[in-house]
Amino acid sequence: MSQAAARTRRIEVTPNANGFGAAISGLDLSKPLPPDVLAEVKQAWADHAVVWFPDQPLSHDELEAFTLQIGPFGHDPFIKPMEGRPHILELRREPDEKARNFGAGWHSDWSFQEQPPAATLLHSKVTPPVGGDTLYADCTRAYDALSATMKRMLDGLVAIHTAALPYGTKGIFAQEKEERTMKIIVSKEAEKTCPHPLVRTHPVTGRKALYVSPVYTSHIEGMSPDESAALLGFLYTHMTKDEFVYRHRWQPNMLTMWDNRCTLHFADGGYDGHLRVMHRTTVGGDTPV
Ligand code: SIN
Repeated sequence: MSQAAARTRRIEVTPNANGFGAAISGLDLSKPLPPDVLAEVKQAWADHAVVWFPDQPLSHDELEAFTLQIGPFGHDPFIKPMEGRPHILELRREPDEKARNFGAGWHSDWSFQEQPPAATLLHSKVTPPVGGDTLYADCTRAYDALSATMKRMLDGLVAIHTAALPYGTKGIFAQEKEERTMKIIVSKEAEKTCPHPLVRTHPVTGRKALYVSPVYTSHIEGMSPDESAALLGFLYTHMTKDEFVYRHRWQPNMLTMWDNRCTLHFADGGYDGHLRVMHRTTVGGDTPV
């Protein structure tokens, strides 16, 4: 951004040192944002992929209203939403809960959909005193860091996405023995597959990003199972190297918005014995190209 543009900016953006992730302050998200301010928020989100707004004690209505300022709601399958709030999921884990914390695997939200959500917004209600961080991987810089030869091989490949591993009838949640507070919907529907380009181009920034994850990608089209597993294994190790990962530490009443088109995330545990309550909405996206 030019110095002149930075001087006239109405929001305060504090990026991480490498530019992946930024805090945004100087706003009250409980009220509709003027169009120029909203445009600045969207620009900061495009620039930094993960943005967070501290000190935003939002009601459900306000969280929904801010989400709709970013775009229309996405469709959330396989998790029962909050009573009377079809677009809000409560990610709740009780202090005595033994089931693994929800989201504990690298993924991009609902990437098995034909039009996966562009954004996820997560609002922290109760945060534990230890653990409970969310890790984000920068899939744009991970792509940029590959050799030209590897990029040539990956560009044009198609990866197959499915929700079968977590939500299928023989999936992880179907086999879970421990009680879970969140109501997961296990279904045959989760076993459907959806092809997406392995490298997708961001519709706003025009930058390319790797678009595969160990939770939702089953294989690469046209490769043998061994070839596909080897290449995906390499990519997962590469994408989640420390240099591409940002560890997000929560405080209560923080709203974080991430771009599913160019990031993966992983919900870290380490807070057994403590309550964690988050409210989540998604914003619909377009067909990956
Ligand atoms: C998720 O949306 O995958 C969960 C993120 C979190 O709870 O930190």
